[in-house]
Amino acid sequence: MLDSDLIFYNLRLNPYPMKIKISKSFTPYPEALIVPIVQNEGFENALTKMAEWAGVAPELMLADFKADWKEIATLYPTGKTDLKRIYLLGLGKDVTAPKVLTAFRSLSYRLKSKLPPRTGVSFLRMEQTDQVVPWIEAAVNGLLLGQYDTGQYKTEEKKPQPLFTDGAELGIYTTVDVAAAVEKARAVAETQLRLLDLVNAPANKKMPRTLAEWALESGDRYGYSVEVFDGDQLKELGLHALLAVSQGSESPPAFLVMEYTPADATAGTLHKVGLVGKGVTFDTGGISIKESAHMHMMKSDMAGAAAVLGAMELAARLRLPVHLIGVIPATENSVDAKSTKPGDVIGSYLGKTIEVIDTDAEGRLILADALAYLNRNYQPEVIIDLATLTGSVIGTLGYHAAGLFTHNDELAAELTRAADQTGERVWRLPLWDVYEEDLHSDVADLKNYGGKPVAGAISGAKFLEVFTENHPRWAHLDVAGVAFTDSEFSKMRSATAYGVRLLVEYLSRL
Ligand code: BES
Ligand code: ZN
Ligand code: ZN
Repeated sequence: MLDSDLIFYNLRLNPYPMKIKISKSFTPYPEALIVPIVQNEGFENALTKMAEWAGVAPELMLADFKADWKEIATLYPTGKTDLKRIYLLGLGKDVTAPKVLTAFRSLSYRLKSKLPPRTGVSFLRMEQTDQVVPWIEAAVNGLLLGQYDTGQYKTEEKKPQPLFTDGAELGIYTTVDVAAAVEKARAVAETQLRLLDLVNAPANKKMPRTLAEWALESGDRYGYSVEVFDGDQLKELGLHALLAVSQGSESPPAFLVMEYTPADATAGTLHKVGLVGKGVTFDTGGISIKESAHMHMMKSDMAGAAAVLGAMELAARLRLPVHLIGVIPATENSVDAKSTKPGDVIGSYLGKTIEVIDTDAEGRLILADALAYLNRNYQPEVIIDLATLTGSVIGTLGYHAAGLFTHNDELAAELTRAADQTGERVWRLPLWDVYEEDLHSDVADLKNYGGKPVAGAISGAKFLEVFTENHPRWAHLDVAGVAFTDSEFSKMRSATAYGVRLLVEYLSRL
């Protein structure tokens, strides 16, 4: 049942109330028309014709607008047309769906309050490419996401953006059938928007229970089951590692198990995929406390969980033909007299004992329980976990790619293909057994930290591997660098909803 007191952030149940109309021609004219321009051979001729038609000087326009990626030019037609505004949007030369998405998101962000209630986008000149459907999907997703506003807790009254209000209409002009792609783009953007709010929410407005409430509400609305284990149930289930991480927190932990099967599914014909997301609502480091400079960003240490929530919601909403199980261990990692101390030996769901060398390596502890629980209770064909697991992966790949760990070449290829399509980069790192020595403990079955400041992302992955019990199709994504980053869309680092589109793309291709 929903306890609205626990939902501290805006739930945004209907974030984009405007209509989206797909049509073959732009009559009646919208108040503004966005025209994406690919920098291909002959684009200048086409622009010259457009300039003549609009009654603006072609030479000046071509001198000023080069169709570079994300470049915008505004034309105010004076010719015999009712069209009052044209926004040319450059897509550059080597166009890909991720670049289309960023260009549209950037335009939407930059023209925020300017796009009028009837704005259209013409893809009529882009239909020669076989990529037009994914490009339109990317464009719509970008346009919607560009409206995201990080100022959730500002008290000044927010003016609704004219195009994104009730009664407004976004026109998509194309002769290709893109209804499903447009609906998908809208659904994905809505989920992403709500997850951006959730990941950006500070820890005093987002507790483990809040993640549970989010899942319950979403499951209710889109038709998937959500079971929330808490209190004594966690001990009964044997989630000892999760309990060890949470024991220093005022806010109680929760263990979420979600399951979706399409209504019309014939049993046994579907692929069974299990997802696990790290749900640390705040990571102080525990007794091995973090330095303060960047600690505030550890409100985003549940971004892996957010990606799993998003994938569950969208699988159900888009009725993807897959049997999907999502598991989220949710807890804070806090400092207290009751906190787990360095050197403590704890238990785990699998029964293995763990020497906790560093209480800041808490993600692998809670994931150990979640991975083992998922594997033992559901036997998925594929297991994918997402976690803001290590600072080390940022040292390795920076803020542009997630570390991908798997023994399975096929799964690596599938995830990489999906990532290339969505623009959420992944880069494979090794799981060689030589790294296992980092896990050796003299006093317990294994330890959670090797004590060496090298290859930290790999030792983290090696630790998780133990708790998958050598599952043949398991992949771990270390998303520490990509889930909460700098971007052109906010002045401070903020959430990216990394992984949501990647998972949906991967699941859609199964
Ligand atoms: N949540 C952090 C990892 C992290 C760091 C995420 C920076 C996002 C940005 C994780 O729990 C952690 O503290 N990892 C430690 C592990 C170490 C103690 C073995 C790290 O990476 O320093
Ligand atoms: Zn930590
Ligand atoms: Zn953490």
